[in-house]
Amino acid sequence: MINYEALFKISYGLYIVCSGDRSKGNGYVSNTVFQVTSTPPCFAASCNKDNLTAEFIKETGAFSVSVLHQDASSEIIGKFGYKSGTDIDKMDGSQVLYGDTGVPVVLDECIAFIECKVVNTIDVGTHLLFIGEMIRAEVIDDAKDPLTYLYYRRVKKGFSPKNAPTYIVEP
Ligand SMILES: Cc1cc2nc3c(=O)[nH]c(=O)nc-3n(C[C@H](O)[C@H](O)[C@H](O)COP(=O)(O)O)c2cc1C
Repeated sequence: MINYEALFKISYGLYIVCSGDRSKGNGYVSNTVFQVTSTPPCFAASCNKDNLTAEFIKETGAFSVSVLHQDASSEIIGKFGYKSGTDIDKMDGSQVLYGDTGVPVVLDECIAFIECKVVNTIDVGTHLLFIGEMIRAEVIDDAKDPLTYLYYRRVKKGFSPKNAPTYIVEP
């Protein structure tokens, strides 16, 4: 038996994962970013092969992860999570800083960020699991709480679109 409701008992946060450089940057909303080791500190990001950002991470060998706060707007989730950088310039109108590797870091509606250099890439079928070693981490706003996937679903009534690893295809 497979009860898909069980999958909603897995906890996640919500992030904007970015890559590229000053001339062309891009990012996508992700709920599948997590720390995988402590020494050195490494993070995994599961990125759909169809996401434009996957190309940018492959090219630059680096990515940033911005942690969305609980009151993050549907506009920012819509821009980074439902539109592709092939159609719009997502950096246009965004507050961005450029990290030590040159990748963009989105600051809007975020409370912290980390920057990673890719040390391994695992092909998991529809997605690439980028493993990045953390080279920088900063808190932007200590007063707000991070947005969780549960809060996004329950309170904001949001869901995972097709490219997200947590998109549910029921038979
Ligand atoms: C709540 C939410 C969670 C998502 N999680 C992921 C994820 O973990 N991995 C992924 O590849 N796409 C995820 N997506 C989908 C991408 O954000 C979306 O396909 C985006 O438009 C890709 O942008 P790009 O083509 O400009 O890179 C998620 C979207 C939303 C709204």
